Parts: sequence; structure tokens; C-alpha cells
Amino acid sequence: MTVEPVAIIDGQKIYEVDCIEGFKMLGDEAVDHISTSPPYNLGGFHSDRKKRNYAGYSDRMEEREYQLFIKQFIQHCFRVLKPHGSFFLNMKTRIIDGVAKPPYWILDGNPFHLKEDIIWHYPSTANVDLVRFFPLFEYVFWFIKDVKKFKFNKEWAIVGNVWYISHITDRDETKLGDNQHPAPFPTQLSQAMVLSTTSEGDTVLDPFVGSGTTLKVCRAFKRNGIGFEKYYTNYKEIIEKRVRSDAFEPSLLDIKLEKKTVPSNPLNTLDKYLK
Ligand SMILES: C[S@@+](CC[C@H](N)C(=O)[O-])C[C@H]1O[C@@H](n2cnc3c(N)ncnc32)[C@H](O)[C@@H]1O
Repeated sequence: MTVEPVAIIDGQKIYEVDCIEGFKMLGDEAVDHISTSPPYNLGGFHSDRKKRNYAGYSDRMEEREYQLFIKQFIQHCFRVLKPHGSFFLNMKTRIIDGVAKPPYWILDGNPFHLKEDIIWHYPSTANVDLVRFFPLFEYVFWFIKDVKKFKFNKEWAIVGNVWYISHITDRDETKLGDNQHPAPFPTQLSQAMVLSTTSEGDTVLDPFVGSGTTLKVCRAFKRNGIGFEKYYTNYKEIIEKRVRSDAFEPSLLDIKLEKKTVPSNPLNTLDKYLK
């Protein structure tokens, strides 16, 4: 099956397809990197409540069907990723009928090696029910295919595996009028995933492109992005604005390097209290 891109923004290709169909266009080992966040299956995905069933999409499958879909998508990621490639999968603990459901089920039968589990920690949340501690993190699972060959730009190691990024930093960029993409990555998150494990000219896939954050990073940092978005029509103008944007906060690495110039050995600080 061949589908033409619905948009090419400065070389970044976007296809308006269900990702499972999109994967079928890609050969084996066709991409150097994948980073993405799938829908949550919590219902009411679209911020405008009236649009909950927009284009027949309610983000609510039977849970078993959802898990099968995600596992099928992971198998496709495995097939299309090159041996040295990385796959970053952002998922969060969902609360279902009052009970926390962490996403560890994605590890069952997973063909990848889990290279590292990263915590994306944010300072605030819209989910402020006074029945639990406010949820202030999500997971980023870093998967690789080959424990010997994987590409990692080692200067990124100092960033550590707890990434403190506000999820509303550049949210305005994913809004046009009253149309707001409900779950965009902050650009800093995409930057960390893409820049730590790819080089200029590499091919990067985001199978759930959403507002286009991954492709924004690809455009600015000279990677060749490919994105699938089943509901492209809903976010067309937002994607155009996001991918073309040159607005960047300092990356997690920039922040860390800057901090390195400040004398801040935490033990020195503790000493003060221990005396
Ligand atoms: C969590 S959002 C991704 C947000 C994205 N990381 C960003 O920075 O904006 C998931 C996206 O997947 C899209 N989607 C849902 N089901 C899909 C499918 N089967 N194939 C492709 N896209 C799908 C939704 O419309 C939504 O925009």
C-alpha cells in the first residue's frame, strides 16, 4: 500500500493514516529512531467536550482491545527500527475505576531490550482530585534492539534519568483559537529523546504525531521526520504552526551544562545541616 503524505513541512512528512496502516508503508529497518506517546484510552481525548466523538474517535476501546493494539504497534516499531536505533515510548499510570494502572503490561512479550526507564517529572497537573497525591510524573521507556550496537550521544548521560520538564512550557504553540491539542509533548521532552540518540540526517518516526512536536525538533535539528496522525484534519493548522516553530527552551543538556559551572556539590550543602 502506498499513501502520499498529506503534508510535507520543510521536508518533514506527515501521513493521515492509522499508524498500523502507516507502518505497512515502511520496509524492515527503515528508521533510525522512534519516539511517541500513544492515546491513553481514557475517553474524552479531545479537549472540546463536544468533539469527544470527533471523526468517530472517542479514545475508548475495550481495555483488552487497547492493550492488543499497543502491543501490535510495538511489534511494528521493532520491525521498522534499524539495529542501532532507539524507541522512546511515553506512557503514564492511568486511574481506572479509582485504581492505579501503571503501564508495565507493555513489557510482557516485548521484543525490545529495555535500556532504561526514565521518569518525566513535572511541577504541576490539571488532575487535582483530593483523593490521592497529585500525579506528577509519567514514564519514558527507552527501548533498544541491540545492547552492543545502540547509538547514544554520550554527552547526554549527565542529564540523568529523571527529566524535570513542565508539560505546559510551550503549550500555547499547540493551540489555535479554541482548538488545543489535548496532550502535546513539551518540546524539551522531544529534544531529549531525539538528540540523545540520533545524528543529523537520521530518519525519525512518530507514529502518533499529535501536534507535531517530534517533527518540530526534526526540522530544527536536521533529522528527517515521518509522522502518522489518524486525525490530522483536526490538527492540521496546529501541526503546521508547531513544526515550523523555531521557539526552543534550553535543552535538558544545556541546563545541566550551565549548572555544572555553579559550585553546587549537594554534600557541601548537607554538611551545613549535619554539623
Ligand atoms: C498522546 S497524542 C500524541 C501527542 C504528541 N506527542 C504531541 O507532541 O503532540 C496521541 C495522538 O495519536 C492520535 N491517534 C490516535 N489513534 C491513532 C492511530 N490509530 N493512528 C495514528 N494516530 C492516532 C491522536 O489523534 C493524538 O493526536
